[in-house]
Amino acid sequence: MKTKTLKGKSRRPDGYEKTLKENKLLHQYIRKKVNQLLTIMGTKPLNSRGLRDEGIIAIDPIGIISESFGQVLEHLKESNRQLRIARDHLQAVFDTAGVCISIVDRDLKILKCNEKQKELLAKNASGIMGRHCYRVYCGIDSPPLSCPAIETLETGRPVFIKEITKKGKVFQIVTSPLKNGDGTVEGVIEVSMDITEKKKAEDAMRHTEKLASIGQLAAGIAHELNTPLGNIIGYTKLVLQDQAIAQEQKTKLEVIAEQANVGSKIIRGLLDFSHQKKPVLEKFSLNTLIRRVADSLQDTFTAGNIRIIRSLERVPSLQADPNQIEQVIYNIIINAVHALEGRDGIIKIKSRTMKNEVEFSIQDNGPGIPKAHINRIFDPFFTTKPVGKGTGLGLSICTGIIQEHGGSIYVESAPGKGATFTVRLPYKPKTLCGG
Ligand SMILES: Nc1ncnc2c1ncn2[C@@H]1O[C@H](COP(=O)(O)OP(=O)(O)O)[C@@H](O)[C@H]1O
Ligand SMILES: [Mg+2]
Repeated sequence: MKTKTLKGKSRRPDGYEKTLKENKLLHQYIRKKVNQLLTIMGTKPLNSRGLRDEGIIAIDPIGIISESFGQVLEHLKESNRQLRIARDHLQAVFDTAGVCISIVDRDLKILKCNEKQKELLAKNASGIMGRHCYRVYCGIDSPPLSCPAIETLETGRPVFIKEITKKGKVFQIVTSPLKNGDGTVEGVIEVSMDITEKKKAEDAMRHTEKLASIGQLAAGIAHELNTPLGNIIGYTKLVLQDQAIAQEQKTKLEVIAEQANVGSKIIRGLLDFSHQKKPVLEKFSLNTLIRRVADSLQDTFTAGNIRIIRSLERVPSLQADPNQIEQVIYNIIINAVHALEGRDGIIKIKSRTMKNEVEFSIQDNGPGIPKAHINRIFDPFFTTKPVGKGTGLGLSICTGIIQEHGGSIYVESAPGKGATFTVRLPYKPKTLCGG
């Protein structure tokens, strides 16, 4: 529009004033809106003449706005991309973390949980979202008395619980508050770590340390006692050879010799226990060894009321110390014989292959082991037998041997139901021997 053409009121057409007013209003309106947009975009607003003439083309506010929108859009796209990357990283950390992570709301209902948590729940993992965490994770109808998540909700602070036992597993739990922008606690992040294996290893370590110190003590005592006991036995034998000694004295001397021999046997056990030798590995057939020990023991059962039954499957050759494994089999069978004393008994020996291990078990139908004893029978010096018959070292020697071979030994028993000792030993499978 050119202003020159508008000179001289007389030549102005009808309605000119009205149009001019309308145009002015329109310009004001456009300038106001353009200025609003320019302010949003952070650009200097137009001055009062800004939209009147060709200045508008020079300033090109619409162009600035569309350009700015383009830039904002690009910026938004980039921010979205960065956000997506950050979210993917966070999700990857969430899912690959070696600990179980769950997010629960203020009602303790599960909002989200990671892969490790689902793995632990296995087949119970589906449909857990929206359910109460205490029901899903602890299997109880209401939160436990000392629920760390509730404490975190109440205090707004993290809670660190060292250990909690759920379904035979030990967990370490940490709960942290999930806060929104204004700092209100909206939920709880529960992190739990399965420390069952760590606990077992710690217990085993403590047991090993205990055994080592008992072993040192036992070795010292055994060593000191060995010489005087040897002397007693030696001199008693010498005196017994004297023809001039009366029969009554001889009988008393024989009791001395017999008791000294019992003492010697105990000392041998102590020395065996404390100077446990490293296994000398060789390849042999476990089944052949079991047959040999079982046959020789069956022959020596004087009462004759105990039967040894064998059920031996084909198992791979063992790479182990045959003398030490023989000692283990022997100790367990002798214990069973002692437990069966005076009754008709059956001792079943089985062997089989389990994954990378060979397993043998020795089961008796004796009186079984009382609950109060079952955790102690592998401890050195634990015995329920009278002095002279038991030293309480047999099973701890067996444990030492089996652990030294990288295997495991455990017992299953209940009073009146007999006892079953199971031993597992790793093997390097090459050839199979007959069962
Ligand atoms: N088969 C079994 N039946 C019942 N109790 C057993 C059996 N085997 C072992 N025990 C218990 O374990 C204890 C420890 O055994 P062990 O270490 O061999 O020492 P000891 O035979 O010298 O007592 C035994 O005294 C006995 O109470
Ligand atoms: Mg024994």
